[in-house]
Amino acid sequence: MGKEGKYGAFFLALALFLPFLALETDRRMTVALPVDGPAEVEQEQETKFIALTFDDGPRRSTTGPLLDGLAQRGVPATFFLIGEQVPGNEDIVRRMEAEGHQIGIHTYDHKCLTALNAADFSAQVDRSRQLLGEILGRENFLLRPPYGMVDAGVERRAGSAIILWSIDPEDWDDKNAERITRHIVSRAKDGDIILLHDIYSTSVEAALAVVDALHEEGFLFVTVEELAAQHHVELCEGQIYRSFYP
Ligand code: NI
Repeated sequence: MGKEGKYGAFFLALALFLPFLALETDRRMTVALPVDGPAEVEQEQETKFIALTFDDGPRRSTTGPLLDGLAQRGVPATFFLIGEQVPGNEDIVRRMEAEGHQIGIHTYDHKCLTALNAADFSAQVDRSRQLLGEILGRENFLLRPPYGMVDAGVERRAGSAIILWSIDPEDWDDKNAERITRHIVSRAKDGDIILLHDIYSTSVEAALAVVDALHEEGFLFVTVEELAAQHHVELCEGQIYRSFYP
């Protein structure tokens, strides 16, 4: 086919196709019109999933109000607990489990896990697992290493998936609830894992403000395990996960 023949065929195809294109645009416009008002339009938004995670608790004075706020909103979160803060707070741990939150471990006394020998690692991780196991009757808890520090030894001995994060507002820094909220809401995407600490009242305040703001944007809060399942990721022992983007 010559050059002219090619163009001829192209324009013929275009001429034949244009009416359908117009029809298709027309049809879409009709469908996009809100039939039953704004609620109908919102349903067309695809649900985005996101996980709130809290480290360094439990602390009764701050974790308690956080659990109240999450319960009011019907929102589950994931808590990475410090082993030595569990004795005396067993009721809080049971409440977390009963209210649909996920529980993980964050070492026994917030030690950096890299470069530890097997015994020292076990004293941090296995000891915390056993402590929670005595309360909850199982030991399959995810691990979040303090400071997000991981090396080959941590990966080998983790005994569960290693969960890091994709949004970190550094809530321990200025303890400014408004700034923390803005930091998270402006970055939130489907599949993100948010890092906060439930030992500061400002972080609790920010977390609940984030929930309210992201609910408005069509986000659904889930636990880390549910977030992985939503996006068809199987959690593997010793593997590091920072997010579960679709
Ligand atoms: Ni920590």
